[in-house]
Amino acid sequence: EKAGYKHFMQKEIFEQPRTVADTISGFSSQINEDLYNTVVNADRIYIIACGTSYHAGLVGKFWIEKFAKIPVEVDYASEYRYRDKIINDKTVIIGISQSGETADTRFALIDAQKEGAKTIGIVNVVGSSLSREADYTLYTYCGPEIGVAATKTFTAQLIVLLLFALELGLKKNTITKDLYEDLQQKILSIPSKIEKILLKEKSIKDIAYKYMNASDFLFLGRNINYPIALEGALKLKEISYIHAEGYPAGEMKHGPIALIDDKLPVVALAPMDKFYEKMISNIQEVKARKGKLIAVATEGDENIKELVDDIIYIPKTEDELYPILTVVPLQLLSYHIATLLGKDVDQPRNLAKTVTVE
Ligand code: F6R
Repeated sequence: EKAGYKHFMQKEIFEQPRTVADTISGFSSQINEDLYNTVVNADRIYIIACGTSYHAGLVGKFWIEKFAKIPVEVDYASEYRYRDKIINDKTVIIGISQSGETADTRFALIDAQKEGAKTIGIVNVVGSSLSREADYTLYTYCGPEIGVAATKTFTAQLIVLLLFALELGLKKNTITKDLYEDLQQKILSIPSKIEKILLKEKSIKDIAYKYMNASDFLFLGRNINYPIALEGALKLKEISYIHAEGYPAGEMKHGPIALIDDKLPVVALAPMDKFYEKMISNIQEVKARKGKLIAVATEGDENIKELVDDIIYIPKTEDELYPILTVVPLQLLSYHIATLLGKDVDQPRNLAKTVTVE
């Protein structure tokens, strides 16, 4: 069942090169003209989800706004449901749910549909409630995810959102054919890049061992990697029970910097994208207050070595594609911290894989 892995979570993390590749190849056959026309003519998109799926939505907002130039709002389903919604027939609601059974997400979509919105589900489980209730469904092709912590379904949700944003951009002429084709090529190389990150498991486990006794963690990211900081913190807290927070690095000086002392591990997402210099200044702010720094950085970045205590290198890619890579070391880091602490990573306390109650 676990195919030689110790836990389903570990197996599912290692399946990602395949599940990402399968989701890429399964994407285009799910698209029809009707779906595109609906979204291309939308004046606003709401992305509604819970937990890890919500974090995928936050990344999706960057892509849809960048490539398709449609304004996107992302909300927790449990919050969205009880707000006064502004909906018309040009409103599109995208509900993201691995299980397709999460009550808050389902009912938020059903309510919005009644008010005239068009609904799209991004779902992993074929035939699940959400896939039947939404006007359109886009599947992630991961097979069953058994570990309670979502891993392979998150990277697949990112792929669906990215490919969808690119198709919309092409259709709307908000991106050039050249950029579209270039990114499609780069996306095809994502599975082998994830493979390279997975080969670093041993050194990530060493880092986990070094910091496993910390009582708090801070995760920092900027722009499109900020939602990955949130996801890194969620993964760690739900399976290791260590308190963790994700923050946009630029917000640190507005409060959380007060937390930093020589006991606090700070995980900084610092890929070589256009926010690199700004992230380096944030890293320096942490270092000046003696925080322990673990950087996720781009292969070949030697400069960062003297600023941080530990580094996990990821392969170079386009700025827009980094979130699909930066999350992988964070999954492994939380997995190893939790297992070293003796926690049951596949069945964390107080959690169920599918939350079918409000
Ligand atoms: C976190 C986790 C949960 C789910 C959330 C939504 O690792 O698994 O936060 O992401 O309960 O579940 P779905 O995507 O099934 O709606």
